[in-house]
Amino acid sequence: MGDDRGSLISLEQSKNIPFKINRVYYIYGTKTNVVRGKHAHTSLKQVVVCVNGSCKFLLDDGLKKEVIELNSPDVGLYIGKNIWREIYNFSKDCILIVLANKQYNEEEYIRDYKKFIKTIKK
Ligand code: TYD
Repeated sequence: MGDDRGSLISLEQSKNIPFKINRVYYIYGTKTNVVRGKHAHTSLKQVVVCVNGSCKFLLDDGLKKEVIELNSPDVGLYIGKNIWREIYNFSKDCILIVLANKQYNEEEYIRDYKKFIKTIKK
């Protein structure tokens, strides 16, 4: 919804965000060479927007791995349940905003890759 003054992007639940938004968090000031994530969620759905800078997402559904670079505030990356993710190559100015359909619950994290593979094969 930008105009000649600049850009404006609106995120609305059930419109361009495919779920009810229950949580928003953001990640910034990530140190160089840090790898974040390294987990999957058994039920969480998320949309990630890199509103400044850039970083890379490795996404893995247990069968196929894909690397996606996020470097534009007009792109949202949807990550459904049971996807292993690793986030790396953060630029110093990287800011990630994440919209999630559930509140934080450590019990629905899978932080062990072998356990992730076992879970998705069930
Ligand atoms: P974590 O999910 O491990 O971060 P990342 O996957 O990006 O590396 O979260 C780091 C810490 O923050 C961990 O102790 C859990 C806590 N946390 C919350 O309390 N609420 C939240 O919404 C999130 C995402 C994390």
